[in-house]
Amino acid sequence: TVLIIDFGSQVTQLIARRVRETGVYCEIVPFQSAEEGFARLKPKAIILSGGPASTVDEGSPRAPQAIFDSGLPIFGICYGQQTMCMQLGGKVESGHHREFGRAFLEVEKDCALFDGVWSLGSRHQVWMSHGDRVTALPEGFEVVATSANAPYAFIANEAKKYYAVQFHPEVVHTPDGAKLIANFVHNIAGLKGDWTMSAYRARAVEAIRNQVGNKRVICALSGGVDSSVAALLIHEAVGEQLTCILVDHGLMRKNEAADVVAMFREHYNLHLLHVDASDRFISALEGESDPETKRKTIGRLFIEVFEEEAKKLGGAEFLAQGTLYPDVIESVSFTGGPSVTIKSHHNVGGLPDRMNMQLVEPLRELFKDEVRVLGRELGLPDSFIGRHPFPGPGLAIRCPGGITREKLEILREADAIYLDEIRKAGLYDAIWQAFAVLLPVQTVGVMGDGRTYEFVCALRAVTSVDGMTADFYHYDMEFLGRAATRIINEVRGINRVVYDVTSKPPGTIEWE
Ligand code: XMP
Repeated sequence: TVLIIDFGSQVTQLIARRVRETGVYCEIVPFQSAEEGFARLKPKAIILSGGPASTVDEGSPRAPQAIFDSGLPIFGICYGQQTMCMQLGGKVESGHHREFGRAFLEVEKDCALFDGVWSLGSRHQVWMSHGDRVTALPEGFEVVATSANAPYAFIANEAKKYYAVQFHPEVVHTPDGAKLIANFVHNIAGLKGDWTMSAYRARAVEAIRNQVGNKRVICALSGGVDSSVAALLIHEAVGEQLTCILVDHGLMRKNEAADVVAMFREHYNLHLLHVDASDRFISALEGESDPETKRKTIGRLFIEVFEEEAKKLGGAEFLAQGTLYPDVIESVSFTGGPSVTIKSHHNVGGLPDRMNMQLVEPLRELFKDEVRVLGRELGLPDSFIGRHPFPGPGLAIRCPGGITREKLEILREADAIYLDEIRKAGLYDAIWQAFAVLLPVQTVGVMGDGRTYEFVCALRAVTSVDGMTADFYHYDMEFLGRAATRIINEVRGINRVVYDVTSKPPGTIEWE
């Protein structure tokens, strides 16, 4: 195991991704609980992340002394480099000029961390982002690479296996960063890359059996990748003891519920209850136009329906959830202030308490792309695993203004045609998420010889890595024209199509 001590950098999770890509398990622990994490995980190597604080400030975070006493290899990144230097007797000063973005390093000395990656005298692009900088090295350290503005860009104490850098090796803008991290993990720390998904699968199945025993488990299956993979893993572990419930709120995409049900029942022989509650949801939503009310109504009904169905089954001791590692990582907070709710997200929160159930969360240690690998390992088809994300409240939040059954039907058809065109053009995998939105606006058009007065459909497509930020997708106009023509010709109720060219921020991906 590698322990990553988090000082609050925006990109700490990427360090974990890079370590796991080397086939070595790692965990992120916030600096406040680093001492406890160190004792619990008994790591073989330590990485100190970057962070927003300044080491020269009174009370700024430090790494626990225990890690320096342990004799283990340590890799300090950015803030991690600075605190490491301070704690080992070097000096750090507030930067006179802050440095952000691309920089070039020149290798000045051979270093074990460079093996097979960098050689003496060569130059390499790295990504800098820091204000402070090291100005005097602790004893035993030497400079192994420099940049024009950072004389201590890369320093090392090879005897102690301490390495520290001012740039960010974990981001893609440092092209060789992943290899440097791999060298640290494999060569310096001597860890083997044996953390594979098939090994994970076997261990997870074992752990689920131990946790659940002969008790019953229920799972809310949404058709999304996370809940699907969690369900399959639990099914593999305890078979018939698992019942999945698909609460069909009538707000899914065209054919979606039926496809998901068919796949799980036929291919996996999984006990799956398909509860058609669409009338109940849509009656409750009819005419509703406030986005937060829609979200809350759907969340409340979802819990009600799930609870009723679970009771009919005679209840269960365990509730399965597809919680992922990013939801579990305790975030480092400096301000402690409340954050603003932009949207109330739909999940099954609240259920375990209300129903007095324990949670089974077999994906708690995984990142999203690791879940996809596990899904493949469990035999889910690529077409399923690679599907665009779909929000819990479904089409309801893509139908601004009052919801009606008719509008949902129009939207579902337009959305299906749009996605069909995207697939035909071979663009599906290049786009992170794409969907149609039905606007509560009617415009005048002419079709044949007649006047039309119908709705406007907006098309949305974005690229993103994690949904936190996004850019609108740059289609060529031919494509948009083709999709628009088909939608207007084939969907009664739409006579105009527009394309949304808003990025996030300032927009959000969904319209509500
Ligand atoms: P926004 O609109 O906030 O969306 O930019 C970011 C991503 O989250 C999805 N989304 C949701 N997913 N429950 C979900 O499971 C929700 O309530 C929800 N709201 C938005 C959205 O589709 C996008 O991928």
